[in-house]
Amino acid sequence: MQTLTGKNILLGISGGIAAYKCAELTRRLMERGAEVHIVMTEAAKEFITPLTMQAISGHPVAESLLDPRAEASMSHIELAKWADMVLLAPATADLIARVAAGMGNDLVSTAVLATDAPVVVAPAMNQQMYQNIATQENIATLSRRGMHIWGPDAGEQACGDVGPGRMLQPMDLVERCEAFFQPEATSDLLKGKSLLLTAGPTREALDPVRYITNHSSGKMGYALAQTAAEMGANVTLVSGPVAIEAPAGVSIINVDTAQQMHQEVMSRTTDADIFIGCAAVADYRPEMVSEQKMKKADDSDTLTITMVKNPDIIASVSALKTDRPFTVGFAAETQNVEQYALSKLERKNLDMICANDVSVGGQGFNSDDNALTLYWRDGKKNLPLDSKLALSREILVAVSERLETRD
Ligand code: PMT
Repeated sequence: MQTLTGKNILLGISGGIAAYKCAELTRRLMERGAEVHIVMTEAAKEFITPLTMQAISGHPVAESLLDPRAEASMSHIELAKWADMVLLAPATADLIARVAAGMGNDLVSTAVLATDAPVVVAPAMNQQMYQNIATQENIATLSRRGMHIWGPDAGEQACGDVGPGRMLQPMDLVERCEAFFQPEATSDLLKGKSLLLTAGPTREALDPVRYITNHSSGKMGYALAQTAAEMGANVTLVSGPVAIEAPAGVSIINVDTAQQMHQEVMSRTTDADIFIGCAAVADYRPEMVSEQKMKKADDSDTLTITMVKNPDIIASVSALKTDRPFTVGFAAETQNVEQYALSKLERKNLDMICANDVSVGGQGFNSDDNALTLYWRDGKKNLPLDSKLALSREILVAVSERLETRD
């Protein structure tokens, strides 16, 4: 979706390890229609070259404040005036301090002084540097002056420390740019609607220490939950065991097995306007769960486990005679994707199905990206490879359009 068409973004890169992510950030912004020019600090060039950023953005990258070649193309003052947004990513402690002090001793800080466009700061630094009182006061100063502070994220850092200071992922920044420029476009799209959804894998026990499961990480379902909450929906997420944090503003119910997931979902359908089955639910479970750890048999090289069918959660939801929510399924296929997805749409009586080819690397299970085709009774929409967050937005826009025609 060309959500950033006509938007001019001046990306100011400073010298932190996260600078390497600016290639991806620029590409993703441009995919959405933004025009991106780059300015870099001297230190940034140690992490990613101006030539790389020039090749990706399609525009010359100024090497210094007085670079005759770049100034002939568009002077740094003209660039600051051209921008609809100045995005400082990564913004190191040093850059933040210089901007807070009002300095203009390099291209990036000069751009901030010379622009009247909104300035967004995406901090990235060591967690101790981030938590230092000087940095905190500088960030508070920028915020007080009306600059937007996006992030940082917390977690393991390149230096080995753990804590706050990681730059937001490129797609998180892109999503925020989209929401910044078009807050009205989707922020209320699901206002007043209740969304019930499932995510992650299920675990089917064999004995107290072993279980059968699959590769679902929960990323797709959690991205949907986060996006729906940002669009104003009241979101309840029934989640299998995953290693990711619950998105803000989402009610979460944790389960292990398909039977538990079935029970938790079915007790909540009455209030749901929309149900999305994104979980990779085990179709079968072991018939017998051994009370004690199963022992290896000396007299046999094989083990036979009898499996019995689990309830089909989404089929149960779509079969409801009263209060049936608009029901959206996923189809995880490794071959004949369209054929199998359409047959699930029909057989499970769904309103929409999101088909993904999980045999392709870099998408599907446990990846940050995915590629999907949405099918409904009389239409389809192809969503090429993109982040799960960006795809979630497109899925939910398509759902809300179909919901309107049904209402
Ligand atoms: O979690 P990630 O790592 O981000 O990966 C995302 C994903 C690949 C898991 C996701 O995109 C996806 O495809 N989810 C559905 C996986 C799946 O189980 O597909 P299926 O084709 O087997 O099932 C079809 C539909 O029936 C699904 O909506 C599923 O939730 C539902 N189902 C299946 C079996 C069952 N007993 N009950 C169900 O509700």
